[in-house]
Amino acid sequence: MCGIVAYKGNKDCHPILLDGLKRLEYRGYDSAGTACNHNGKLVVTKCRGKVADLERILKSRKIYSDCSGSGMAHTRWATHGEPNRKNAHPHVDQSGKIALIHNGIIENYITLKKFLKNKKIKFNSDTDTEVLVQLIGYFYNKVGLDFEESVRASLQRVDGAYGIVVLNSDEPDMMIAARSGSPLVLGIKDHEFFLASDISPIVKYTKQIIYLDEKEIVVLKGDNYDIKSVDTNLSLSKEIKIIDHKIQDFEKGNFDYFMHKEIHDQNYSITNTLKGRSNDHDILLNGLSKYWNDIKETNRIYITACGTSWHAGLIGKNIIEKFAKIPVHVEYASEFRYNDTILDNKTVVIAISQSGETADTLAAVNKANDAGAITVGICNVPGSSIARATDCGIYTRCGHEIGVASTKAFTSQVVILYLFCLKLASSRKTIDVKTTLTGFFKDFSNLDKDVEIVLRKEKYIRKVALKYKNASSFLYLGRGLNFPIALEGALKLKEISYIHAEGYPAAEMKHGPIALVDKNMPVIFIVPKDKTYNKILSNIEEIKSRKGKIISITNSKSKRLKDLSDDLILLPNVSPYLFSLLATIVLQLFAFFIAVAKKRDVDQPRNLAKSVTVE
Ligand code: AGP
Repeated sequence: MCGIVAYKGNKDCHPILLDGLKRLEYRGYDSAGTACNHNGKLVVTKCRGKVADLERILKSRKIYSDCSGSGMAHTRWATHGEPNRKNAHPHVDQSGKIALIHNGIIENYITLKKFLKNKKIKFNSDTDTEVLVQLIGYFYNKVGLDFEESVRASLQRVDGAYGIVVLNSDEPDMMIAARSGSPLVLGIKDHEFFLASDISPIVKYTKQIIYLDEKEIVVLKGDNYDIKSVDTNLSLSKEIKIIDHKIQDFEKGNFDYFMHKEIHDQNYSITNTLKGRSNDHDILLNGLSKYWNDIKETNRIYITACGTSWHAGLIGKNIIEKFAKIPVHVEYASEFRYNDTILDNKTVVIAISQSGETADTLAAVNKANDAGAITVGICNVPGSSIARATDCGIYTRCGHEIGVASTKAFTSQVVILYLFCLKLASSRKTIDVKTTLTGFFKDFSNLDKDVEIVLRKEKYIRKVALKYKNASSFLYLGRGLNFPIALEGALKLKEISYIHAEGYPAAEMKHGPIALVDKNMPVIFIVPKDKTYNKILSNIEEIKSRKGKIISITNSKSKRLKDLSDDLILLPNVSPYLFSLLATIVLQLFAFFIAVAKKRDVDQPRNLAKSVTVE
């Protein structure tokens, strides 16, 4: 979703802002813009399209290399008003003195707009955001409040979510930012300040970070920063965190696409997730220790998430019910937040989110917190909103994920759920601890090598993928643990290639989707050598007899399966838990190669955003 980057210091701001915007491109956007204070005036530059378009415009202007001091930049993902120059941020108030960039939605914008129109304020865009800058302008120009008071007075009157940065040409040495519902971080380096919607534009310059919390406002003035509560105006003392990210984590290295790099990262990211989380006889999840006595006594678990993270949740249900014998409900966060879910102080609610910023998942966590449930976060981004809103949690530690299509985060989420489940099962004594844990770690001891074997098959996977690149629809079928993997495979293909795809439990396809099958329909079967193997072979026969094309992903060398399949991708002979992870990697590569062949914008597919920070 929208990206924010701002700089206050004595360097030329535009190169810093553009570099920052490029690092935020992965969030998804449709227009971009900048504003800076220059010789007592605001200079605003914006356009529809890519950051490269904005860069071309800026570089053709003198301002590009003649603007040291404060500036801010924005990539917009349209919500209210179509993606065009007029609706791009920054927006400026009627006096032309105040400019604002915003991530989020002002929900009561219609009421506020009516109020401002009655005060003879004219609007120039179709956005909700413009209402906020006009309101600040109203308090500043007409009511006579000072700059900071005007921002605070306005924020006290808006409903909805915001991460904002505001400039005022009357106050060239000031920059004000605030957040509620949309993330904002402050980077500090000697006499320079950086603001951004995540740390990716900042790590290059400083490792000293302050994560703003809900309803906090930061006032940058001269060499100082002051963080206050929007509501009470009291100064807050905030901890400066030292982050340990490296700039390489945010770059593509030898790959052409972030997604491709991140698929390959799985040869170490999954192991990273596991590192230090076990000893001979126990699973160590320190982030849960304060709440573990309550968690292990629970009699009902909800898992809530969106998209890919929701698919990981389905795997969580499968294994927790199997090993820990606790009923688990998996709900889309957007439904959970409004459903009449049964929650009490014995319920455990697990929220899974790579970004830790997904608005629906955060709202689900807040609802669970309000009901007194024990909330557990499984997030990849330290310090993210969900990581902070939950009672306790486990980080996936798979490294920064930039491709919009989630890949390595998914496999790490699944591994965390395996660990959580085994810890729960051993605490509840529903498994034979020694045998099960030893078995699990033995299975996973060769993980890197097994992932490497799959990655080395990528040429072959590409060849198979290209055979089907012109198909208009795909079915992905799997059973048990591999039903969520089928859903995830189908989602990957949809997201980045724009080809219709559906995932189903393999046998369920007889209840409808089979009507779609003809000689043009590729059907991907995930076929582990487990108790459902023969059942899946029957499902394959059913598709085969309707002339569908069969692509099998399997660890079985059976001749029958080979003969039934048009294409077969053979995986190492591993445990069912590992098999699902390896099959996922095959499906990620499959979708990736089709998308590249179709010349899609793989890392920033149309209409999508990396973290969906609006409802
Ligand atoms: C995954 O490929 C998608 N881009 C999307 O479904 C994503 O998983 C979803 O928006 C949830 O994001 P989160 O994990 O950051 O909460």
